Amino acid sequence: MSDKLKEQEDRYQLNTYAKFPFFIDRGEGCYVFDEKGTRYLDLYGAHAVASTGHCHPHVVEAIQKQAAQLIFYSNVSYNSARARAVAKLIKLAGPPYYQVFLVNSGGEANENVLKLARVATGRGEVISLEGSFHGRSYGALSATGISRYREYLNTPVPMHRVVSQEEVVQNISEDTAAVLIEPIQSMGGVQEIGSDRLKEIQAACQAHGALLIFDEIQTGVARTGSFLYSGHDGIYPDLVSLAKGIASGFPAGAVLVTEQLAAGVQKGDLGSTFGGGPLSCAAMEATLEVIESENLIENAARMGRYFREKLMEIPIVQEVLGRGLLVGVRLAEGMTAKELQGVLLKQHILAGSSLDPQVLRMMPPLTITTREVDLLVEAVKAA
Ligand SMILES: Cc1ncc(COP(=O)(O)O)c(C=O)c1O
Repeated sequence: MSDKLKEQEDRYQLNTYAKFPFFIDRGEGCYVFDEKGTRYLDLYGAHAVASTGHCHPHVVEAIQKQAAQLIFYSNVSYNSARARAVAKLIKLAGPPYYQVFLVNSGGEANENVLKLARVATGRGEVISLEGSFHGRSYGALSATGISRYREYLNTPVPMHRVVSQEEVVQNISEDTAAVLIEPIQSMGGVQEIGSDRLKEIQAACQAHGALLIFDEIQTGVARTGSFLYSGHDGIYPDLVSLAKGIASGFPAGAVLVTEQLAAGVQKGDLGSTFGGGPLSCAAMEATLEVIESENLIENAARMGRYFREKLMEIPIVQEVLGRGLLVGVRLAEGMTAKELQGVLLKQHILAGSSLDPQVLRMMPPLTITTREVDLLVEAVKAA
């Protein structure tokens, strides 16, 4: 049966994804199960999405309850789930973030931060960094600084400039609407930009009236040991894009806006049919409740430290990159991340690679415990 279904998926789904060679049809906490019932430890976190783990009972219950009550109505009406979700999100994000625009994905969140910045400044130019990933929609892809993805851009959206970290400040001018930054370039090899550089960029933005935007689609929602990376070392960007784990896997994204920018937004400036739908808001509210009630921000910080401490004991590990539960493991020459990923897969552990062939990437559920980290460490030692 599963062979037939596999053939069916290959036959009818556009051939654009490299896939694990098995089905994942069930998940629970930090684990997923294939068609034979074999259990895999999911340190890839379903692409950094399974923030509260797979099928957290509180999230499942909220989705089920909401589905039975109202699956969808758009933003032309008020909705209780939406009212609760946006209030909770702004409470957790904290000042200076004042209002939120809800969308369905990371790419859509980035399209909207760029639009907001262009409308607010009346300028067109967007500067982004080499090594960054911002999504596959045209504006987000035009801002993406990884050549492998840019190859698909026949004609980038005009006035997007991708520059090296060192060149950002000198390129900001009176034409610049915004600088878009992924504060830890995850796909780019778990490379943290660092506070000194971010402060310099922020000062240059302020001097020229440009906006600073953080793409926190991977670093946000508690992943790095604080609810947002924004605010780290006192650096608050003007706009923040969120998605991935914000609703534990129900498609959702959000744009966080400061009070000053929110004041300039007019009715009709932005819109999205499905953004802020009741089901995604119920999933988002429940996710945020679990993050609070299970102290997942603290857990991400604590487990992040444990990951680093344990991994650094292994001779093949040269360096552990990232923050909290955005973990990059730089391997010494002799074994590539892809090779280690393959060895781990045989031991039923899912991990990711990155643009850097030596960096293995992990974004596990924020609920992870020392038991799962120990399983990984044993497996890497054996490899
Ligand atoms: C940092 C970052 N920005 C944007 C995106 C795009 O998000 P989505 O695939 O939900 O459109 C991703 C997805 O991997 C991402 O990691």
